[in-house]
Amino acid sequence: MKIAVGCDHGGLEHKNAIAAHLRERGFEVTDFGITENKSVDYPDIALPVAESVAAGEHDRGILVCGTGIGMSLAANKVKGIRAAACSEHFSAKYTRLHNDSNILCLGGRVIGIGTALELVDLFVDTAFEGGRHQKRVDKVMEIERTQA
Ligand code: RB5
Repeated sequence: MKIAVGCDHGGLEHKNAIAAHLRERGFEVTDFGITENKSVDYPDIALPVAESVAAGEHDRGILVCGTGIGMSLAANKVKGIRAAACSEHFSAKYTRLHNDSNILCLGGRVIGIGTALELVDLFVDTAFEGGRHQKRVDKVMEIERTQA
């Protein structure tokens, strides 16, 4: 599985730990930055990560900002993206099972690195359940299509 990661200044330590953790687990990771601690605008990182996932260049994306919310708002503007901001285990697991989310957004000022790594593991290890949830995901994507 190929995974794209990115962050703003609110999530640099988390993003670096996540990238190292995923590489250690054998995943192919592309780091879209930032790589040094400077202030940036989260949409500038969310966009290339989301575009690469939407284009199929990466199977999943992980984005970290201060809250996870700005990254999720920006990533969800890209067609084909279902980005979920999560700060606990249940949501990280069920957004894969029920929403087939393809980007996980985390808050570097909300959760610690240990929790972030556990949420990332749940997100990459959990398959979409399909079945009745497929119809609902299809309806979400239909909203995207008709609103475009
Ligand atoms: C940056 O200060 C902060 O606004 C950003 O990291 C994020 O939390 C936005 O949603």
